Amino acid sequence: MSALSIRRLSDALGAEVEDIDIAQDLSGETVVALRQALADHCVLLFRGQSLTPAQHIAFTKRFGPLQELTLASYLHQEHPEIFVVSNKPVDGKPSDTRRTGRRWHTDMCYTPQPCRGSLLYALEVPPVGGDTVFANMQRAYDGLSDGLRAAIDGLSTVHDLSKVEDFKNRDPAATAKIVADNPPVEHPLVWTHPDSGRKALFLSDQIAYRITGMTEAESRPILDYLLVQAIRIENTYRHQWRAGDLVFWDNRSVMHCAPEDYDMSDPANVRHMHRTTLAGPPMV
Ligand code: SIN
Repeated sequence: MSALSIRRLSDALGAEVEDIDIAQDLSGETVVALRQALADHCVLLFRGQSLTPAQHIAFTKRFGPLQELTLASYLHQEHPEIFVVSNKPVDGKPSDTRRTGRRWHTDMCYTPQPCRGSLLYALEVPPVGGDTVFANMQRAYDGLSDGLRAAIDGLSTVHDLSKVEDFKNRDPAATAKIVADNPPVEHPLVWTHPDSGRKALFLSDQIAYRITGMTEAESRPILDYLLVQAIRIENTYRHQWRAGDLVFWDNRSVMHCAPEDYDMSDPANVRHMHRTTLAGPPMV
């Protein structure tokens, strides 16, 4: 198998793959090695890349089919496979995606089939801040007591996009359509990684708002407890972006959030990113 140069980024998760140009047509052996590295480290960082949208999409497709994206108003105009995460104004108005991911979440958890992975490529970043934080949901699950693991195995949660608080600050017509296109769905609270067989917690703050068969009030303390365990600092990696970074994360083993850790009112603080997503296999 192709030998990768790997540098771990934190004890909990994350690894930088060094000396690799992902715009090139990588060998099958290298792709197999990258898949294994993703299963092992949950998040892979590729620094210093220079990618066109087509190259970004081509690299993503080496790992499987792309997820059809449903949030039409946030997609790249020429390449609808790309979700644009940006604080650049659109038609003179604040961009609706400028606060994407402020809460801990798993991408596209509000769809019937949450995606396998996401690949976020930084085109422009603020001089300081604009970080993304990742939590290892397998370690979070493993860290629970036998009793709590037994109690939550087999439970499912209801994911409802309309619960996202920030929707109040976005364009009402666009968000009404997004909510109508994405009715609530149920997913396991604990899911098993199809490659490694490891179990992970599957949570998303606000969106996974209730355990099936329980009220929101009954569910809240349990879900809040699990969330707090998952995001303990020692279970996380905080990525400080440089332009040209591509970060590839495995949505089946991590949850992430993008804190508002910089001043968005300062026009010098541009944060402009392209994200592709890999379609997921059925959840178990
Ligand atoms: C996302 O939630 O996928 C975007 C995260 C980020 O902008 O850092």
